[in-house]
This record gives sequence, C-alpha cells and structure tokens, in this order.
Amino acid sequence: MSIIQVEHLTKDYGFGRGVFDVSFHVDKGEAFGFLGPNGAGKSTTIRHLMGFSNPDSGETRVFGKESFHKYNEILRSVGYIPGEIALPAGLTGWEFLRMMQSMQKHKDEKRLQDLLKLFELDPSGDTKRMSLGVKRKLAVVTAFMNDPEVLILDEPTSGLDPVMQDIFIDYLKNEKKRGKTILLSSHIFSEVDATCDRIAIIKDGKIVSDFVADDLRHASQKNYRVRFNSQNDYDRFISDNGVKDECKIIEQDHDEHSVVIATDDRYINRVIELLSGYSVCGFTHLKETLEDYFMKYYKEDKDFGGALQK
Ligand SMILES: Nc1ncnc2c1ncn2[C@@H]1O[C@H](COP(=O)(O)OP(=O)(O)O)[C@@H](O)[C@H]1O
Ligand SMILES: [Mg+2]
Repeated sequence: MSIIQVEHLTKDYGFGRGVFDVSFHVDKGEAFGFLGPNGAGKSTTIRHLMGFSNPDSGETRVFGKESFHKYNEILRSVGYIPGEIALPAGLTGWEFLRMMQSMQKHKDEKRLQDLLKLFELDPSGDTKRMSLGVKRKLAVVTAFMNDPEVLILDEPTSGLDPVMQDIFIDYLKNEKKRGKTILLSSHIFSEVDATCDRIAIIKDGKIVSDFVADDLRHASQKNYRVRFNSQNDYDRFISDNGVKDECKIIEQDHDEHSVVIATDDRYINRVIELLSGYSVCGFTHLKETLEDYFMKYYKEDKDFGGALQK
C-alpha cells in the first residue's frame, strides 16, 4: 500500500481554478516531487491530503486513512510544512514549539536542539514579530523535530535565504537516505532534481506528466550538437540527410556550420561512423535538464491547446 494516495481529486473553485482529477501516490521510502508554478494547484492538493478541506470528488489518504475524517491522526504523525505560514497570535516561538510538540506522538529534545542549531533559529521572540524567513525556519523545525516517517512539504524553502535553502536540501537528502517518505511541492527545478525519485508536473490544476526522475537523467534518446569544419561539409551533411535513419536533424545553424541531431543510444556507433565521412570539429551531448523538460511540456501544452493534458 502506498503511504500517500491521491485518487481522482477534484476541487473546483470556479473560473477554471482548483484541481481536477488529480491522481498520484507516494510509496514508502520514496521522494516525490510535485512541480508547478504559482496557482497550479499544489497547495490545494496538499491541503486536501492534510484533511483541511473536503474534496468535491475523489479522495486522499495518508497511511490508508481518509484525510478529511482522520485529519487529527494524520497531523500527529506527519511532518508538515504549510505553503503559507499562519502562526497563532500571542505566542513566542518557544511556546509555539512546545504546543506543537505536545500534539505529536514522539518527543525528541536532543533532535529539537540540533535542528535549532542547524537552522540557526532563536525561537525566543514573539511569533508576530518574526520575519518570513524566521517563520519559515520555525515551520521547518516544527515539522522535523519529532522525526516523523512521512514529510509533506509545501514549497518549504520559500522565504529561506540561499545558504539556508542549501542546508535544507542537504537535510532532506539525508532524511531520504534514512528511509523517509517525502512529498515535496516546489517550483524550483534544482531542489526537486536533487532530492526526488519521481516527479509529477501540475498545470492549471491537472497533472500533465508523471515520470521517474532517472528516466529523464538516463534517457536513451539524446541530442548532440555537431559542428563541421567547412560550409561544404555542412551542406553535404544536410543534403545527405534524407537517406540516414540513425539520426534526425532537429536544428540547423547555417552561419555556425552546425546542426543538432537527435538519436538513440542504440545507433550511436552508426552515427559516429556516419560522421567520419565529414570533417567535424565539434561533437557535444546536449543534456536535457528537468527545466528543459518542464518548459517543453508547458510550451507544447500551449501550442496544442491542452492536448497533452491527461
Ligand atoms: N480557498 C480558495 N478559494 C478560491 N480559490 C482558491 C482557493 N484556494 C486556491 N484557490 C485557487 O486555486 C488555484 C490553485 O491554487 P494553489 O493550490 O494555491 O496553487 P499553488 O499552491 O500551486 O500555487 C489558484 O487559482 C487559486 O487562486
Ligand atoms: Mg502553494
């Protein structure tokens, strides 16, 4: 059984806003990235998972428990960092930490002290006077202090400075190594890329892609830039192209005498053999990053009027 389950979740706020038929699951020990820009529906989905809102249709479960009815049990056993941090008025940071500690299953004072040190947080002040960054740190320490098995993190690094963001990502990588189940929502490619095994892209409330991160890292379809020594070689390669089936020209740069070819790892020897018939001065693998992939989805989606949406 998956630890986190979202099944056909729909919440329609009208005017095309909300989430529509969103489904995904996160298995034990897996780190799942939920990637999308502002307004895509990440927080809405996560708020349903935490049981704060009742779906129009579909359902969400954590540990097999239906979220809306079992929100109390879920809140106690999950490390949750909300997208927007609203702290109760009239408390110091310490009072808030103690209150949250009393609601959770296990207490670990040593861990709390270590986290305060790591994230350089002094919780003695009034929560009302805290800057966004300090509030965020308080939420981070609160989510991790009792060493929960499941982490549900809604854009957890927003408001943190770049050094703290790095500390956070390193911490998260270590939690993953320790076998934690993680749901990380984000609009930052690098942090999702650094931590997640599986990634879903959400756009306008719908999941447009759900893939294994390593498939992208080790995709057998690859693009290479080939630069030719002379105009003659470049022209000859282009005009010969009709008879080649091991690669496809996807970009041409006449002034630079260069092309971008797409091929598959299976054909790489044949491509090298083919290129040996021309005078080549450059051959570079163009690595597709998560950002390229994401932008391609968004662009294609726009071009084809939503045809790629599932
Ligand atoms: N309580 C609400 N009432 C009305 N509209 C909402 C509510 N919550 C979210 N929305 C709308 O739903 C869409 C998705 O929002 P949200 O889940 O917060 O996106 P994200 O977290 O990805 O930035 C946005 O258009 C937002 O304005
Ligand atoms: Mg959000």
